[in-house]
Amino acid sequence: MNRPYVIINCAMSADGKIALPNRKQLRLSCDKDLERMYKLRNEFDAVLVGIGSILSDNPKLTVKEKYVKNPCQPIRIVIDSKCKTPTDSLVVNQITKTFIVTNKRCDKKFEKNVEIIECPTDLDGLIDLEIMLDILHKRGIKTLMIEGGGTVIWSFLKKDLVDDLHVYIAPIIIGGKKTPTMTDGPGIKSEDEIISLKIVAIKNLGNGILIHYKRL
Ligand SMILES: NC(=O)c1ccc[n+]([C@@H]2O[C@H](COP(=O)([O-])OP(=O)(O)OC[C@H]3O[C@@H](n4cnc5c(N)ncnc54)[C@H](OP(=O)(O)O)[C@@H]3O)[C@@H](O)[C@H]2O)c1
Repeated sequence: MNRPYVIINCAMSADGKIALPNRKQLRLSCDKDLERMYKLRNEFDAVLVGIGSILSDNPKLTVKEKYVKNPCQPIRIVIDSKCKTPTDSLVVNQITKTFIVTNKRCDKKFEKNVEIIECPTDLDGLIDLEIMLDILHKRGIKTLMIEGGGTVIWSFLKKDLVDDLHVYIAPIIIGGKKTPTMTDGPGIKSEDEIISLKIVAIKNLGNGILIHYKRL
């Protein structure tokens, strides 16, 4: 099975949170990190989020011209097994193509730039990521940037489908037992399941730091 080169890009607080306790989005990146993130998006064939992020943040997932002149917009991918993506969400606007990866036939009427890709689910009833990556690779996507949220990032890491992680850590604390974190799946069951990373680079960026990890 072939797959694209996969990276995770995420911004979090010093206590590992990626949103407010009510799950709403907040700005965690400094200006320099935003610029880095948009330039990275511009270099990737596709960016991917889960339906949870679409419903809570309504992101466009495009590259802003303010940061990149004449951007090369990546394909936007939403993993959304029940096709809950609203037809008026910003991720399906006509700026670039969007793939919605679902498990069932979807009768919603989207514009022509939106393609529904059917994919089987795994034993947990979630989109089978290996099969999805193989489909995407066959569709010409050779580089893929995962942008969240915590449930999706967890799944990619747990299935060992990540090559690099870029994590920006803002010098703030958010707190809250149920506040979304970078990895919000069920977590490991025992020490031998630990997901080990190697730090490749650490850089000061604005008032925070950027850590580049690779999967060990
Ligand atoms: N700081 C950041 O960088 C950043 C970036 C993005 C999001 N966020 C935050 O993250 C939060 C949203 O995260 P979330 O965890 O609720 O949602 P999510 O990770 O965006 O999406 C999770 C959903 O995706 C679907 N899915 C389908 N196949 C999957 C698979 N194999 N693995 C995992 N998920 C799969 C599932 O819904 P179905 O079963 O319906 O398909 C699942 O519930 C928000 O609070 C948002 O603000 C932060």
